Amino acid sequence: MRTGIVHIGAQELTYEIRNIIRVADKLQELGVPVYLENIGDPVAKGEKIPDWMKEIVSRLVMDDDCYGYCPTQGLLETREFLVAMNNGNGHCRITPDDIIFFNGLGDAITKVYGFLRRTARVITPSPTYTTHSASEAAHAGLPPVCYPLDPHNHWYPDIHELRRRVKYNPAVAGILLINPDNPTGAVFPESLLKEIVDIAAEFDLFIIADEIYHNLVYNGQKTEMLAAVIGEVPAISMKGISKELPWPGSRCGWIEVYNAQKNSQFETYIQSILSAKMVEVCSTTLPQKAFPCILEHPEYPAYLEKRRLRYEKFSQIAHDQLKDIPGVLVNRTNGAFYMSLAFEDGCLNRQQTLSISNPSVRALVEELVSDPHIQPDKRFVYYLLAATGICVVPLTSFNTSLQGFRLTLLEPDEDCFNKMIYTLRNGIKDYINAY
Ligand SMILES: Cc1ncc(COP(=O)(O)O)c(C=O)c1O
Repeated sequence: MRTGIVHIGAQELTYEIRNIIRVADKLQELGVPVYLENIGDPVAKGEKIPDWMKEIVSRLVMDDDCYGYCPTQGLLETREFLVAMNNGNGHCRITPDDIIFFNGLGDAITKVYGFLRRTARVITPSPTYTTHSASEAAHAGLPPVCYPLDPHNHWYPDIHELRRRVKYNPAVAGILLINPDNPTGAVFPESLLKEIVDIAAEFDLFIIADEIYHNLVYNGQKTEMLAAVIGEVPAISMKGISKELPWPGSRCGWIEVYNAQKNSQFETYIQSILSAKMVEVCSTTLPQKAFPCILEHPEYPAYLEKRRLRYEKFSQIAHDQLKDIPGVLVNRTNGAFYMSLAFEDGCLNRQQTLSISNPSVRALVEELVSDPHIQPDKRFVYYLLAATGICVVPLTSFNTSLQGFRLTLLEPDEDCFNKMIYTLRNGIKDYINAY
């Protein structure tokens, strides 16, 4: 090329959650039955969408308005619905102008980081959902700046370390938190959220809180919305319908902006995100019309509660089965529908294997793990996939050097889930003890 055409941040854009599918597909072609525990899509895992929900959508499909563009920020009546849900309970008050709809939070995430000044950084958790860390790193053209979540302490943020890293890195302009968290399933207590807000206030930062899983909290855990603790600090809360309804194919999510007027630079930054959306015209119309009707439907609370109870039960099954494996750090999932296990230092090595009877499958895995730079947890994940069909994601793919993996609690069939967890437990033990 006459001039370089590759974006400065291109190499930061990796998404192992979907990459691993390519290997799973090859194994399926070779006859290995695969349990896909890698993607957080309840519908793909067999969640049944109730008829009353489908009836709401099919009624709207007959309405011509759903086929048009909507206002750039989103339908006014839907934003008014969200304002009414937020205001009260001591929450930071917002107006419909403080809400912007996007084509899913994936779209919101790329714009929120993409329109930050290149030298301004948002410190992200480690491990974290890679769409955040990769988009932030791509905007800066540099590796992510992160703070640790602690597997020895319920995967809570190490607040002392967060404060230290903010203090000594003047490029940090914002803090990301995800609550409930992907990939760890942690739910942060209100006191912890307040400590993060205090750090932001002390160092004149803004906060981004991804709260897409807010209504999927269980096991008696309590947390708060960012709006309840934010005080005067400028912030963005991210919300959406992909996980909760669940309707990920709708591509519908939104941001709520808190305290925009309290900082002129932050206000201008938010305006640039809105302008970017305006250039693009608007986001999907039909889901914005549908979801307030779904949330207000008399059957919705019981439907959501039933799903919450299933994740709660499965979080306990997984925790009970996996918690006592020597060398493995296990925390019970309390929200969202992911679980991350971390291997203790030195637990994995390059000699460990699992027995694979099919010679073609064995040959494929041996080729995949022959890369001398392969992360030990990725090596484990390939062997697990080939030997048991269980497809999980290496933890090192989530912006961390911790070795481990993430699985989901999304399997709707309890017998199948029990079998998968039992097989996983044996797979981990056999692999660790293999050498
Ligand atoms: C924490 C978090 N935020 C955002 C998203 C993406 O949501 P959307 O479907 O709205 O793009 C996900 C998807 O897994 C997620 O886990």
